[in-house]
Amino acid sequence: MDARALKIEAARTALTHVESGMRLGIGSGSTAEEFVRLLAERVAGGLAIIGVPTSERTAKLCRETGVPLTTLDETPELDLTIDGADEFDPGLVLIKGGGGALLREKIVAAASKRMIVIADDSKQVDTLGRFPLPIEVNPFGLRATEIAIRRVADSLALSGPITLRMTKDAPFVTDGGHFILDASFGRIPDPRALSTGLHSVPGVVEHGLFIGLAQMAVVAGTDGARTILARQ
Ligand code: A5P
Repeated sequence: MDARALKIEAARTALTHVESGMRLGIGSGSTAEEFVRLLAERVAGGLAIIGVPTSERTAKLCRETGVPLTTLDETPELDLTIDGADEFDPGLVLIKGGGGALLREKIVAAASKRMIVIADDSKQVDTLGRFPLPIEVNPFGLRATEIAIRRVADSLALSGPITLRMTKDAPFVTDGGHFILDASFGRIPDPRALSTGLHSVPGVVEHGLFIGLAQMAVVAGTDGARTILARQ
């Protein structure tokens, strides 16, 4: 199976958890987009759901494919969010934000009773950090925020480049109008301590560590999809 087929397999399996009447959080990224396409087929066949998209890009795809949308303001409590991840560990702590949508993704996941992660098995790691951690920051005082993040990292013995995400010659700008710093720590042995430290920096809007949000991962490999449950 190629990479796209694995994403479709994970998305198809997760779709079995979607029931008529559900208020759904709809994730961002290439795996979540496969989910949207499959969801749209079910909607065309009569499945009655309403979705809250986690990015402008996902919203556009939903509109193009006929997935009915609402906003989190209109529908502030959701039944289930289905979203991809850049990495996940055995306790289903995630790194997200590779596509830059981490803030809305986290707000939507936190407003949901349940979150299911869809991924191919290359995303599973023993210890998070191989994937650079996206940190969404306010553009004001960028350099000061970067220095404060470095101090947090030093206090936890984390080292590695922290780089401003760019698109061509300009900083990448999120849907919320913020910048992203990608922190290549290599290993993050204590994600909770890092999360607390990052939240203590005023210029940090949010970070891509998702802790205690996902209850289940549907992980596709060459031998099919399997389900991993978060430890209680
Ligand atoms: C978007 O900001 C991310 O959190 C994505 O969910 C994550 O990057 C996974 O994307 P892929 O499914 O494209 O790997």
